[in-house]
Amino acid sequence: MRVWGRTLLVALLLGGLALAQDGLGAQVYQQCAGCHQESGMGLPGIFPPLAGTLPRIAAAEGGRDYLIRVVLFGMMGPIESVNGSYNGQMPAWGGSFDDAQIAAVLNYVLTAWGNDALLPKGWEAIAPEEVQAARVEDLKPQEVLKLRPKVEFGE
Ligand code: HEC
Repeated sequence: MRVWGRTLLVALLLGGLALAQDGLGAQVYQQCAGCHQESGMGLPGIFPPLAGTLPRIAAAEGGRDYLIRVVLFGMMGPIESVNGSYNGQMPAWGGSFDDAQIAAVLNYVLTAWGNDALLPKGWEAIAPEEVQAARVEDLKPQEVLKLRPKVEFGE
């Protein structure tokens, strides 16, 4: 009885923790939705979509490192996405959010809108420690552009 009670308690606590983290990502995403939209679809030609595209970027070589850095340091310059080309400016968020908030919003955009079903097998959530480790690189938005993996999105 006691053991089951304790197991249940731990399960409830862990579940609550996962939910809380989910909530944090969605909360931080409110700062992103003005451009990338609640739907994650962006605005064609102006703000690139995150829905459907991020799992493919995540699966590409260097994709995980790029995704962490694009949110930390921003990005500037021409890119090709699933619905055409973009040449805008993604703001840097490293100054506004701590490591846990950046990890949470990354995990949110990587799993919202059905993105979770498209992630590579064995994909692990981005940990705040990975964000912390990347921070010291202090990249310029133009340097982040060079890290973006070449992905054939197809349609
Ligand atoms: C002011 C508008 C704006 C806001 C706010 C914004 N972004 Fe962006 N984001 C952009 C633009 C523009 C690009 C593409 C930059 C380019 O063309 O080089 C981009 C690119 C990205 C990319 C890379 C997409 C790809 O295809 O490589 C990710 C990931 C991303 N943003 C996530 C976020 C997250 C998470 C937030 C909130 C913390 C956010 N963005 C807030 C405008 C914005």
